[in-house]
Amino acid sequence: MNEPDSSQTGFWTKRWEAGKIPWDFGGVPANLLSFLHRQTAPARVLVPGCGSGYEVRAFHEMGHDVSALEVSAPAVTHAREVLGPLGDRVIHANFFKHDFGDQRYGLIYERGFLCSMPTARWPDYLTRMSHLIPPGGRLVGMFLYGEEPEPPPYPLTEKTARDLLGGHFRLVHSESVADSVPVYRGLEHWQEWERLG
Ligand SMILES: C[S@@+](CC[C@H](N)C(=O)[O-])C[C@H]1O[C@@H](n2cnc3c(N)ncnc32)[C@H](O)[C@@H]1O
Repeated sequence: MNEPDSSQTGFWTKRWEAGKIPWDFGGVPANLLSFLHRQTAPARVLVPGCGSGYEVRAFHEMGHDVSALEVSAPAVTHAREVLGPLGDRVIHANFFKHDFGDQRYGLIYERGFLCSMPTARWPDYLTRMSHLIPPGGRLVGMFLYGEEPEPPPYPLTEKTARDLLGGHFRLVHSESVADSVPVYRGLEHWQEWERLG
């Protein structure tokens, strides 16, 4: 199979420039809004691969200290337009190369990021997430499960999720998603993974 290489920035930039962004929800998913009403303690939050970045405003309005990362220049421009005065929360950087210094995040929000990259990249994802989230912190959001004949997206199975995340995180909450975009329909699950000590 000759798959396009979605680990390359050019893959995403081509899509952003063409306006071919079928993953874009156009707002904040209901599962995140529900989580934000349960999660009252303010946290430092990171949104990697933020795309349009709608969720940045939602985290900010609930009192969290939120930053987002996006590797593709047209996506960064778009997110900054979407976010207006909060546009400076969007950092133009590659999640795998960005120097986070001593920064750690009590919450990292996932939607369409893990599933956007070839599975060969997943161990690097785990290494970074484990480093950035201290014990007790959480990796939360939409995780795709199932089969995809023409990836990306690259969905998980229960086994690959356990193999990837299970050594460093434990699943503390999982629920269904009712309002997925067509390309993610039937695959998306809201999950909260807590970093083990
Ligand atoms: C499928 S889209 C999801 C966007 C957004 N999270 C959403 O839910 O609409 C994946 C996004 O991740 C960005 N991306 C891919 N690899 C990245 C990386 N290594 N660092 C930062 N952003 C990346 C892409 O440019 C793209 O905007």
